[in-house]
Amino acid sequence: MCGIFAYKGHRNNAPEIVIKGLKMLEYRGYDSWGIAFKTDHALNIHKQVGKIGDFKISDLKKMTAKSQLAIGHSRWATHGGVTQMNAHPHCTEKNEIAIVHNGIIENFTELKKILIKNGHIFKSETDTEVVAHLIEENLKKGLEKAIKMAIKKLEGRYAILVISEKEDVIIAARRGSPLIVGVGKDENFIASDIPAFLEYTKKVQYLDDNEMVIIDKKPKFIDLKTDKIIKKREVPIEWNVENAEKGVYPHFMIKEIMEQKDTICRTINQNGGGIEKVVESIKKAYGTYLVGCGTAGKVCLAASYLFSKIAKKHINTTFGSEFPSYHHFLTNRSLLIAVSQSGETADTLEAMEVAKEKGCKLISIVNVESSTMARMSDIIIPLKVGPEKAVASTKATTAQLAILTLIAYALAGDLDRGKQLLINTAGQINDMLNPRYEDHIKTLAKKIAGVESMYVIGKAVNYPMALEAAIKLQEVSYIHAEGFAGGELKHGPIALISKGTPCIAIVANDETKNDILGNTIEIKARGGYIIGVSPENNEIFDYWIKVPDVGDASPIVNIIPIQILAYHLAIMRQNNPDMPRNLAKSVTVK
Ligand code: F6R
Repeated sequence: MCGIFAYKGHRNNAPEIVIKGLKMLEYRGYDSWGIAFKTDHALNIHKQVGKIGDFKISDLKKMTAKSQLAIGHSRWATHGGVTQMNAHPHCTEKNEIAIVHNGIIENFTELKKILIKNGHIFKSETDTEVVAHLIEENLKKGLEKAIKMAIKKLEGRYAILVISEKEDVIIAARRGSPLIVGVGKDENFIASDIPAFLEYTKKVQYLDDNEMVIIDKKPKFIDLKTDKIIKKREVPIEWNVENAEKGVYPHFMIKEIMEQKDTICRTINQNGGGIEKVVESIKKAYGTYLVGCGTAGKVCLAASYLFSKIAKKHINTTFGSEFPSYHHFLTNRSLLIAVSQSGETADTLEAMEVAKEKGCKLISIVNVESSTMARMSDIIIPLKVGPEKAVASTKATTAQLAILTLIAYALAGDLDRGKQLLINTAGQINDMLNPRYEDHIKTLAKKIAGVESMYVIGKAVNYPMALEAAIKLQEVSYIHAEGFAGGELKHGPIALISKGTPCIAIVANDETKNDILGNTIEIKARGGYIIGVSPENNEIFDYWIKVPDVGDASPIVNIIPIQILAYHLAIMRQNNPDMPRNLAKSVTVK
């Protein structure tokens, strides 16, 4: 949530570099944006409402002179509406410093009252402006000292970047929100995520919680608890610029859906014995908890069915935001497995922090290997799907499902069979994702694009997939969509069905088939329009979307056509599928 990025170096077009980089981070927030840059010791600010993606770099020439230092921010509003005033960077009355921030300052109301009493005048409704005024209070002692003193007063999560009129450095600090330094030759970058600077460098240094970095010729890292300088390793990055761009596709969402032709194979190609280590940890643990949020939470729920069926093993699952309420059961023999694309989701991170305090072992199944979750964990299983930029998770979801299927098989002592199943599934996905298949789903999208509500049902491991399907449909098409366990319909939700209501039935070719078909007949009897996602056609279906029959890997293939459907519904309803309203990738606030 919120993308932040800064540049200091030998190039004279720092504002342009920062705007281009922010465009790469737009998936993190897109309601407004702004930059601050230095020219001859003066601070220049430009901020505006709207998507940074819509801003033409050529317009920038009108408002900027040469500059070698700039910071910027693409916002996802938390405190204060979407206005130019509330957009970052924020300054004080004297305009001596500019600050951008990602996170939430929890005690900002109390701090603001004190600052107002001390004579500070606020221009915005944001929590961030409080930090600017706090820094200003001690600015005479130098920027570094003033930031350190301000930070001591903050409660909550933050990643901040600050520049001042007088000093030619960028100072950054973090607690709970991501910041990564990109190390170049005579130039350095700092961003909430790597794609911002991938064009310039593939060497990074990580800023950890309670650390500060001063970006000058060489980044200088400081431990804020001990005030000592820390040495940081330079880590090479595997991602390349093409991975982070749309290429021939009109949107990241469809690009990432189509990438699932290859991603499953990349995901299961895990070297280093990570899967075996996870299996050992599960066997030793007195209680394993699978934790994730949103889509990742649905994946965890699906995994609990896979572990039950394949490995005959009970696993607890809960959403990140709910996990802390179970802390009473945790001991130093409990195991928490966090599932996440970004590795920065605040609710999942909080769950990990709670578990860590109790001495639990931590494992993460995560895409961003440089993320906070990955760095907090004892064992990391990377998804290896490359950057996922569309807000709606697609390729990361199926990769998470693939890893958890593999772990379930490994737990059952049958890792090779699990691998074979997934290799076969990857091949089938490759065959399935052809233009004719997409057109068939597009035809369905045309039929139902005008509906107000739709429902998805599934059973067993495909019940969480029904929930996930509903999330996909909601977030990009804005159609009211809900997922149910098929058997639950008759206990209430069936009252929602009326003539023509589209209902997707996920019908796997397994022991659940007859039950879910029975539920589908009940819907049909109430006038529902039945869309079957299934390996075989059935007379009950009004529209059939064929999926390959891949046994225990069925959740992976069943969700893909629904991802495509959600994408085309979004396009037909003139929504931007990459940037759905009210949402942002990487939810770094609680
Ligand atoms: C929905 C979606 C979200 C994320 C959730 C967790 O398509 O992407 O529900 O799954 O915000 O994010 P990560 O996986 O980054 O922890």
